[in-house]
Amino acid sequence: MARGMRLDKLLAHAGRGTRSEIKRAVRLGRVEVNGQTARDPGMTVDPAADEVRWDGEPVRYREHVYFMLNKPPGVVSATEDRRERTVADLLRPEDRSRNPFPVGRLDKDTEGLLLLTSDGRLAHELLSPKKHVDKVYEALVAGAVGDADVRAFAAGVTLDDGYRTMPAELVVRSVEEKDDGPLSSVVVTIREGKFHQIKRMFGALGKRVVRLRRVAMGPLRLDPDLAPGEYRELTEKEMEALAAAAAGAWSEG
Ligand code: URA
Repeated sequence: MARGMRLDKLLAHAGRGTRSEIKRAVRLGRVEVNGQTARDPGMTVDPAADEVRWDGEPVRYREHVYFMLNKPPGVVSATEDRRERTVADLLRPEDRSRNPFPVGRLDKDTEGLLLLTSDGRLAHELLSPKKHVDKVYEALVAGAVGDADVRAFAAGVTLDDGYRTMPAELVVRSVEEKDDGPLSSVVVTIREGKFHQIKRMFGALGKRVVRLRRVAMGPLRLDPDLAPGEYRELTEKEMEALAAAAAGAWSEG
């Protein structure tokens, strides 16, 4: 149980913005501690006892951390690895010290939305196949992806190990002729997370994924302001939507 912690840290973990945004808000007098306007973002507060308000609204202390990371290619979705750089290596030391771990895995060369949290229960629920949390990916695929592929994805694709996937949505954005053949830009929505699933689904149809980027997971959308390798705390709204998804109440649309 956390006792004393810096005010700016508490606010950052509560999803109120980056450290510099929080400093600015404190300087502008938007933050109160026990009814007094806070002046020092570095002041020590006790999340269990002190009442912190942001623009007059109570700030809920988060026992766990929840980070949205724009995973760059070339790092593995793990917290430790003897040889490879991991997503945990991208975190600031004070964030890493909260021991967040990735919720599910993206391949080393896959980019985009990765949720990292220290909340084991939420992670477990989001990963449960029963919860049907949609994951949306943008992909570049070598080959001309067409209607037959769209139908195959909708029916479920039989993978190299004989497993038949659940129905998946495939939308073809464009097919361009390149020097070395056609290149398709597509959006894929899957509900499972089998090993290399999207690459293997296209592989089963004789096509090769050359770039893969996750843009959404359940109600979470990759923040376009996050450059590859950057991350931020989830906002209060995102937290609520995620909790609803984990409880099974979230549905698309
Ligand atoms: N499907 C894949 O093939 N790779 C990923 O990283 C995610 C989904």
